[in-house]
Amino acid sequence: MAVRISPATRLRGSIRLPGDKSISHRYAMLAAIAEGHSRIGNYSTGADCASTLGALESLGVRIERDGASVGIAGRGLDGLQRPAATLDAGNSGSTMRMLSGILAAQRFPSRIGGDESLSRRPMERILRPLEAMGALIVAREGRFPPLEIRPSALHPIDYTLPVASAQVKTCVLFAGLNAAGVTTVREPVRTRDHTEIALREFGAAIDVLGGAISLQGRPRLEARQLEVPGDLSSAAFFLVAALLVPGSELRLEGVGLNPTRSALVDFLKSIGGDLRISNPRLQAGELAGDLEVRYSRIRGGTIEKDIAAALIDEIPVLAVLGAASQEGLLVRDAAELRVKETDRIATVAENLGRMGVRVEVFPDGLRVAGRQRFRPAQLDSFGDHRIAMAFAVAALAASGESTIVGPEAADVSFPGFFALLSEIAQ
Ligand code: S3P
Repeated sequence: MAVRISPATRLRGSIRLPGDKSISHRYAMLAAIAEGHSRIGNYSTGADCASTLGALESLGVRIERDGASVGIAGRGLDGLQRPAATLDAGNSGSTMRMLSGILAAQRFPSRIGGDESLSRRPMERILRPLEAMGALIVAREGRFPPLEIRPSALHPIDYTLPVASAQVKTCVLFAGLNAAGVTTVREPVRTRDHTEIALREFGAAIDVLGGAISLQGRPRLEARQLEVPGDLSSAAFFLVAALLVPGSELRLEGVGLNPTRSALVDFLKSIGGDLRISNPRLQAGELAGDLEVRYSRIRGGTIEKDIAAALIDEIPVLAVLGAASQEGLLVRDAAELRVKETDRIATVAENLGRMGVRVEVFPDGLRVAGRQRFRPAQLDSFGDHRIAMAFAVAALAASGESTIVGPEAADVSFPGFFALLSEIAQ
């Protein structure tokens, strides 16, 4: 498949985004092992979060879907059932890494695999701590999916994360739910804390002290009624599009603004973006609000160190913005981009190059010079949702019609993205 995208004269409108992908995964997994019936409103409509629901169903969990509202009949901490076949995480690293924490402690064996992209992504980052807790897991070549998980009883650990990864933190904490005693995860660099917030909401005893998160094992988790805020990482494409196209003005309603995610808003403001937050509110411990954005003259800047980890999912679209900024964008300390759904340093550089944008590539980042123009081009999603959407945004600012091959990749986190974009683009 391919879509054609014409340059936009301006973007106008008020929109709502699908539910946050990170929060949706966590709510679904915790609801599955809680006692009672949970209902999750505005659950992410993306394929990744559907992979989580599908895997939970294969573990015996009854799930009703009604549009974006999902009902989950919790089976309690010990109620999951042996799956009849390999669990399919699809394209979703979150499903595989987080669910493995729960699977590792079961009394039954399981196997979890995924698509071609996921099968190339590193899993030793979860295998090491899970093994230290007593898990028995066999991975392809010792580090890739599929994972064969054997039954075992886990014991708690005190683990310092070697990579800044909320998925690994979550995996260890989820494993710790089934280990009697206190499991502690220490993070040298703060990562998104949706797991800590959600665990508390479902009734677990969890303490956060500086960078140390401690969870008391074997809690009684209780079903909840929850509403997922809009996904800020999906909002990023619309924020950047509005900042890029003169005369644009957009309102994004009900977006998640958790402080461990909203580095994006702070960064865009710091480089000259006209962004305003209104109606801030707390939903089950998660901060949400409305965002207004207007076209702005963007200075450009640097993303490095801790901020690179905080903005990791947004870097593809920020690289696009960097090319149109005054001084350009430098990204360093972001080698993690190389092991996302695609090698995002390579795929961003390839598409920017096709648009005639000069970019210098480093092992851990890239430099995009400022004041560049986007030539219309044939672009490729390379099967990566964030690349599809980042370059749809670049195409809006090009001097003629561009094509994106493989736009359906966007469905992984944002079905309906292209329709929404064409609705607000004038
Ligand atoms: C996620 C954490 C990040 C992020 C991913 C979702 C999560 O990955 O890139 O899209 O929901 O915990 P890492 O934990 O691997 O950094």
